[in-house]
Amino acid sequence: MSSGHWYPGSMSKAMNQLREDLKAVDLVIELLDARIPNSSRNPAFYDLFKNKKHLILLHKADRAENKRTEAWLSYFNSMNAEAMAFSVQGKHYLDRLLRYFKKEEERISSGRFKRPLRMIFVGIPNVGKSTLINLFVRKAVTRTGNRPGITRGKQWIRIMPNMELLDTPGILRPKINEETVRSLAVVGAIPAGRADIYDAALWLLSRYLEQEKLKYLQERYPGCESGPVEAIFEKIGFSQGCLQSEGQIDYERTAALILRDYQNGSLGKFTLEEAPPVDEF
Ligand code: G4P
Repeated sequence: MSSGHWYPGSMSKAMNQLREDLKAVDLVIELLDARIPNSSRNPAFYDLFKNKKHLILLHKADRAENKRTEAWLSYFNSMNAEAMAFSVQGKHYLDRLLRYFKKEEERISSGRFKRPLRMIFVGIPNVGKSTLINLFVRKAVTRTGNRPGITRGKQWIRIMPNMELLDTPGILRPKINEETVRSLAVVGAIPAGRADIYDAALWLLSRYLEQEKLKYLQERYPGCESGPVEAIFEKIGFSQGCLQSEGQIDYERTAALILRDYQNGSLGKFTLEEAPPVDEF
């Protein structure tokens, strides 16, 4: 399937805008979904940032398993990439991020030309970019107006006396292949109706079984027992009342319910992708 089916038109406009915005920033903060760091990262864009200071944020860490998030951080560090976990659910994450910004700001302001540190959040749709910007808007010291020169027309949020954040995030196109589409559908990162949600929900259930996490399912869906994944799916559909008028299971509604439960944390913290072993690199 071509990427054009996914984000028609707007995505190439977004990329052109991002290329332009990158000229005005010192620091690129790339948001990945901590549950799918691999599928939420598109290597096609590495070139875009290669001359910029770059921080990876494993965002929505509140929904991911801490041990697996740590493994991902070690992996990125082993690749000489700076990375940290983040979630809007914990103040300690924000404090750590602000300390990192402060360090960068000191680096910039120790240069010959004194000026604020300028930053942008980038990432695939729905990874949480706007939420982070809003978090900083609420904390912002001021909103700065247009500036002359290359930053003309952009809105900057002054988050500290010498730090500014671009108030429009950079949108990256996700990787589009069968496997990543399924992962993206599970975390809710692709538009509704663009993936086979029955297939995505079955795959999700099978991951819980493989990882021996049936108890997470049982806590949410009492009576759910070990067995073939299709049978578990149907049992959930029946027990949750996802039925058609003739009393048959409504596959679409059941799948949507399972995915929604995963996305809102009702099925526990569960990371879908494992970091490659560090010593392989
Ligand atoms: P985007 O700009 O990258 O497209 O993403 P956006 O900020 O709109 O966030 C997408 C969804 O991710 C929102 O949920 C938002 O609340 C959620 N989100 C952002 N940060 C975090 C986080 O740290 N942890 C968790 N668990 N979720 C986070 P939504 O259901 O689409 O909207 P809403 O009902 O929460 O407003």
